[in-house]
Amino acid sequence: MFKVNSDYLKLRGSYLFSEIGRRVNEYQAANPDKKIIRLGIGDVTRPLTPTIISALHEAVDMEGREETFKGYAPDLGYAFLRETIAENDYKKRGCDIESDEIFVSDGAKSDSANIQEIFSRDNKIAVCDPVYPVYLDSNVMAGRAGDYDEKEEKWKGVVYMPCTAENGFCPDLPEEIPDIIYICSPNNPTGTAMKKDELQKFVDYANENHSVIIFDAAYEAYISEEGVPHSIYECADAKKCAIEIRSFSKNAGFTGVRLGFSVVPKELKSADGYDLYSLWKRRHGTKFNGAPFIQQKAGEAVYSPQGREEIKGLVSYYMENAKVIREGLKSAGFTVYGGVNAPYIWLKTPDNMSSWDFFDHLLKNAGVVGTPGSGFGPSGEGYFRLTAFGSHENSAEAMGRIADL
Ligand code: MLT
Repeated sequence: MFKVNSDYLKLRGSYLFSEIGRRVNEYQAANPDKKIIRLGIGDVTRPLTPTIISALHEAVDMEGREETFKGYAPDLGYAFLRETIAENDYKKRGCDIESDEIFVSDGAKSDSANIQEIFSRDNKIAVCDPVYPVYLDSNVMAGRAGDYDEKEEKWKGVVYMPCTAENGFCPDLPEEIPDIIYICSPNNPTGTAMKKDELQKFVDYANENHSVIIFDAAYEAYISEEGVPHSIYECADAKKCAIEIRSFSKNAGFTGVRLGFSVVPKELKSADGYDLYSLWKRRHGTKFNGAPFIQQKAGEAVYSPQGREEIKGLVSYYMENAKVIREGLKSAGFTVYGGVNAPYIWLKTPDNMSSWDFFDHLLKNAGVVGTPGSGFGPSGEGYFRLTAFGSHENSAEAMGRIADL
C-alpha cells in the first residue's frame, strides 16, 4: 500500500507565487474591465535581445552543416559555455574558478531547490528571514525543517537570521551553528546587498564552523555600487565553504528560456571528508540530461561584446523603473528600501497594515499587484515587495495610482 511523502504534507497552501497568481486571476475574472498592473512575481517584461535571438536561430538553423544539436547535451554543460562562464564571470573578477567546476542547469530555481539533496538529512539549515521561499520549502520537503510552529510561524528545526530595518537587512551571524547557510545577495526579497566585509564574515564563520554557504547570486548584474561582491569567490577562502548559484533569467531575460548554473569548487569538503563536487556531479548526471544546446548557445551569446551591451541596456531599463518606484513611493510617504543594487523595492506597509491586507488594499483600490512580505517569512510581516521588472509605462502608472490612494 503506497503512502505519500509526509514531509510534503507539512507545507500547507500553495507556493507563494502560485497563490498570488490565483488571487489575482480570481480578481481579474470578477473585474474584467480593470487594468491590473502586475509588479508581483519578478518576471521580466522586455523581449530577448537581438544577439540572443540570432544565437537561437543560428543554433537551430544547421542546414548544410555537419554539426547539429542532435543527441543529448553533456549532462554538466557544453565546454563552450562552461569555459565562457569561467572566463567572464570568474577569472575576469580575479576568482580562480575552473570551467569544470561549473554545472550548467535549467535555472537557479531548480538548482537552489535541488542542491540540498547532497547533504545529510539531519543537517541544520539557516535562512534569512524574509527569504526566497524555495530554499526553505525544498528543505521542508526533504524532512530537514522539523515541525511548523503555528504561533511563531517558524519551522522548529530551522535557524532563522532576521533581516530587518535595524540591521540594515544584513543578517547577523547565527548564534546556533547551522550546517548549511543560505544567502542571497543582492537579496530577494529586500532588494538590499551585502558589502564585501559583511559577506567575508559569513565566509570566515562557515570555515571556522565547517558549515557550507549556498550563495544565490541571481541578481548580481544589478549591482551598481562599489564594494558589493558579484561573486562569493571574491571573498578570501570562499572556495573552501561556498557553492554559488547563478541565473540567466534576471540579467538576460531567460525566465522562459531556462538556463542557469552552479559552481561547486573541487576543494569544498564536508566535515566527514567527502567532496561535494563529486556528489553534485553524480546527482546532476543521474537526474538531469543537460540544458538544451539551443539555450546554451544563447547563453554563450550573452557574453559576446554585443550581447553584453544589450544586457547592460536591459538592466538599466529595469533599474530606471526601480528609481521611479523608489522615488514615487517616497513622495507618497512610504518608507522604502532596496532598488539600488537589485530590481526589488521593499516597503513598509502604511499604518501597520498586515502584508496581506495591504496586498488586498492595493489590488482593489489601485489595481496594482505586489508580493506580501510575510509570504517570505515572519520578519517580512508589515512589509511589501514591488518588482522593477515591469514596463516604464506601468511602473509610472502604478506609482500614480498609489499616490492617489
Ligand atoms: C520572485 O519573484 O521572487 C522570483 O521571480 C521567483 C523566481 O525567480 O523563481
